[in-house]
Amino acid sequence: MSSPATEAPPRQRLFLALWPDEAVRRRLIRERDLAAAACRGRPVAPDNLHITLVFLGASDGPQRACAERAAGEVKAPAFRLMLERVGYWSRPRVVWLGSDGVPASLSALVGALQQGLAGCGYTLEERPFRPHITLLRKVPPRPRFKPRLDEPVEWPVTHFHLVESVTRSTGAEYRLVATWPLSG
Ligand code: 2AM
Repeated sequence: MSSPATEAPPRQRLFLALWPDEAVRRRLIRERDLAAAACRGRPVAPDNLHITLVFLGASDGPQRACAERAAGEVKAPAFRLMLERVGYWSRPRVVWLGSDGVPASLSALVGALQQGLAGCGYTLEERPFRPHITLLRKVPPRPRFKPRLDEPVEWPVTHFHLVESVTRSTGAEYRLVATWPLSG
């Protein structure tokens, strides 16, 4: 057994995200269920439906404090997000709900967060930001689903969150650890 002196400091797996309110969550569950009826795959648990803004990954205490400071300094306006497009990514094998384009306010929020996090010691995602809600995981190749919703999901975005991902035997569990408002 290792002594406490040689143990690595505890690390949390963190990400910044948009979390739906109850009304939006209900709509997302409906769209998830429609996708699940059209193709195979494991539906994401209702409480886990979200949009990742910036994935941080394993974080020690000082990194988390730095990320919270950076997030708290971001000044960005609230906005409305329209989600109408359903897609499939074959490598992670997920069916997702997203939008036709990234609204300027959302790009600005993500850009400001990435800039603020620069000194926190993370290796941030370099690929362009593609906002999405994962609806189904472990989807076999060539799923068939309707690529556009009849009616878009309208999501009034007023806050963003720091979230911890905890891996349980039953799957990932997400815990909101901090919340910041966007300006009205
Ligand atoms: P996903 O839903 O497309 O799988 C928690 O794991 C959240 O962070 C999920 O939204 C997941 O996206 C995203 N995520 C996990 N690992 C990631 C990585 N290496 N880079 C970017 N996002 C990641």
